[in-house]
Amino acid sequence: MTAIGDLDRVDCWMRAVAGTLLAFGLIGCGASTSPCQLAAEHVASCLGETTGTTTGSCDADGAASILAQSCEQITGASGKFDNVITSLICRITGHFCPTPSASIPPLKYGEASADQIAAEASEFEGYAMQIQQVQRNNQQVHGGAIDRGFHQKTHICVQGQLDVDPNRPDFAQFGVFAQMRSYPIWIRFSNSVGYSQSDALPDTRGMAIKVQGADGYAAVQDFLGSTAPTQLFPDAKGAMEYALMNSDPDPLVYPKYLADNPSIALGVAKYATTFPLITTSLVNQDFWSSSVISLGPRAVKFNYQPCQDKVPLDFLTSEYLSDDLKARLAQQSICYNFRVQFQADTGSTVATPIEDASAAWTTPFYVVGKITIPQKSSSDIEEESAACASMSFSPWNTLAEHTPLGNTNRARKAIYEASRANRQGH
Ligand code: HEM
Repeated sequence: MTAIGDLDRVDCWMRAVAGTLLAFGLIGCGASTSPCQLAAEHVASCLGETTGTTTGSCDADGAASILAQSCEQITGASGKFDNVITSLICRITGHFCPTPSASIPPLKYGEASADQIAAEASEFEGYAMQIQQVQRNNQQVHGGAIDRGFHQKTHICVQGQLDVDPNRPDFAQFGVFAQMRSYPIWIRFSNSVGYSQSDALPDTRGMAIKVQGADGYAAVQDFLGSTAPTQLFPDAKGAMEYALMNSDPDPLVYPKYLADNPSIALGVAKYATTFPLITTSLVNQDFWSSSVISLGPRAVKFNYQPCQDKVPLDFLTSEYLSDDLKARLAQQSICYNFRVQFQADTGSTVATPIEDASAAWTTPFYVVGKITIPQKSSSDIEEESAACASMSFSPWNTLAEHTPLGNTNRARKAIYEASRANRQGH
């Protein structure tokens, strides 16, 4: 399997080769036989095949690179492809793609035992009461109605679509990603705190999506992403204690809590300096699940990666994140790749634990879908956002194939339900 970093280096090198070849007039997309076709034929003849069909659009840079490879390089000394060359050939010709069999990720491992999970139930009842206390505290300090315990402020909430990626690996073909489909979805962008504050203040941001049924397939699946790749606390106990302290109406409680818990104070400082708490635009922003969910028999974290070019910060006002999204959507659609990463094949939970939501996984990402928000006017955005106001998003609005995993996620079931019930009054 070729790492993304390798591909980036190869891309850079490919461009240099292509530039040289183009400068000497050796290739060109305007030629009667396209460079992609030539590259495909070159590969086919090196491999003793007779055809060299191309798929997809012409990638002149990649084709130039393939054309520059001698047969010896393409077939390798032992008659096998080198990984990097193989992936280039696959990308240009659509043929000879490496089979992922060597890198099939492990089945999920490292979950808490059934006894541990059973023992958590009474703790979670306590967290449900605590989140309602947080909601009351937020109301007392910031005014307004009882609202979401976290992620109160909506930037925009609009309709879009999720398209399953045709090249997702076999081992990712479960649940929403089992079959090639295009799902209608709702997408809600939010700030993380449980009250309304200026977008110019530091905060992590949320992007929740709600997948709806398509083609007679009744998918009901929410995916919740945040701009923080990891959680501040490994489990829900720490997170709830922190939430209560931070929301306390007595302004002395939170500083005292940090002074009494220097490791937490250090963690907060590290968190605040590591992650993007001020963002130029949400169209530039990656979002992560940070916690773990199932993908059929395996465990994954997921990520939404922006697919458009980065844009500069235009303005930094109290509503700049929604103003920016509205201005961009008036001009063009925006999109994110939906990617998943699997546990490491080590048989140890140290590298890719399920139960510790504060641990970063460094395993490779696979694209499994694409989220698109089509171009739309500000008035359409406002109308859709109003229709979405009464919706609730939760990782537990889920298909069995995407069951949330780990202590943080198990606790979220009771916490989100208590927060929703408290603000909706039933
Ligand atoms: C123990 C840890 C967590 C607690 C206590 C917590 C709590 C909450 C609560 C109370 C809500 C509002 C629910 C409602 O009233 O509808 C919420 C919303 C949200 N949470 Fe969490 N959460 C936790 C972990 C996470 C994690 C790991 C993520 C990772 C992505 C996340 C992302 C979000 C998002 C995006 C929303 C907004 C959903 C929407 O748009 O309605 N949370 N959270």
